[in-house]
Amino acid sequence: MTMRKPIRKAVFPVAGLGTRFLPATKSIPKEMLPIIDRPLIQYAVDEAREAGIEQMIFVTGRGKTAIIDHFDVAFELEATMRDRAKALEILEPTRLAPGNLVAVRQQVPLGLGHAIWCARAIVGDEPFAIFLPDELMIGEPGCMKQMVDAYNRVGGNLISVLEVPHEEVSSYGVIAPGKRDGDLTEVKGLVEKPKADEAPSNLIISGRYILQPEVMQVLETQSKGAGGEIQLTDAMARMLGQQPFHAVTFAGKRYDCGSKTGFVEATLALALAREDMADDVRAMATRLLAQ
Ligand code: UTP
Repeated sequence: MTMRKPIRKAVFPVAGLGTRFLPATKSIPKEMLPIIDRPLIQYAVDEAREAGIEQMIFVTGRGKTAIIDHFDVAFELEATMRDRAKALEILEPTRLAPGNLVAVRQQVPLGLGHAIWCARAIVGDEPFAIFLPDELMIGEPGCMKQMVDAYNRVGGNLISVLEVPHEEVSSYGVIAPGKRDGDLTEVKGLVEKPKADEAPSNLIISGRYILQPEVMQVLETQSKGAGGEIQLTDAMARMLGQQPFHAVTFAGKRYDCGSKTGFVEATLALALAREDMADDVRAMATRLLAQ
């Protein structure tokens, strides 16, 4: 097998405005909203770590510093907890060593493609992962670990996909599928937010990517697409035919926490899966549903 450059870096674009969650997101980043007791961004960083990724690159905007603080040492909090003999292990996963956390600013939210391009100097000349933290992926192993395993087999570019009902495709990036081999599908075409009757399939891109660094040069000249934004999907579409491109069907559950109902679904599903809460939450939900 050819040696592939390992995936050591992940980009987390977190500069979006989060308008669907206003007023909650007026002064709190959407990515800091918790599913039970962990903010969304923490689930994504934990998933990256599990996949062997070391360096987390946050593309932030104004009002997003809470995300950086979350992964810093909280000196006063920790000292007080220590004085009161409270266990600090719960904070362990929130610590990123200085070299493992890099923040770059997207000064104007011009779109996901533009946000990724803002990280070009840090990404440099290596393949890298992208996580959209409002898509919560729950699986064993996690979604990115499954993608890194696939990358080690085929290399090139990979995106995570899942099937949705045909009438829902126009909110997402959609792939035109080619040959299928187990969980891997060749990507023949990519289109962002197509009309339902023009969509090439019902396989949507679901918030996790492994891309080759050349995408940065493509983004450099990418013009605005759907919604007047610089779209990552359009830049990836221009790379098709020049580099291998595969879709990985994620074996697990995905929750769209960028939407209110998806957020509630994730909260309920994760609570029902937790030993310390499941019984109480089930009883509560049963009571509420009977009303
Ligand atoms: P969304 O489409 O979910 O947009 O972006 P949003 O602004 O976060 O939320 P709404 O639609 O207004 O409620 C998908 C991902 O891309 C990032 C977002 O932070 C999110 O993780 N993004 C989007 C940027 O970082 N910059 C942008 O210019 C646009």
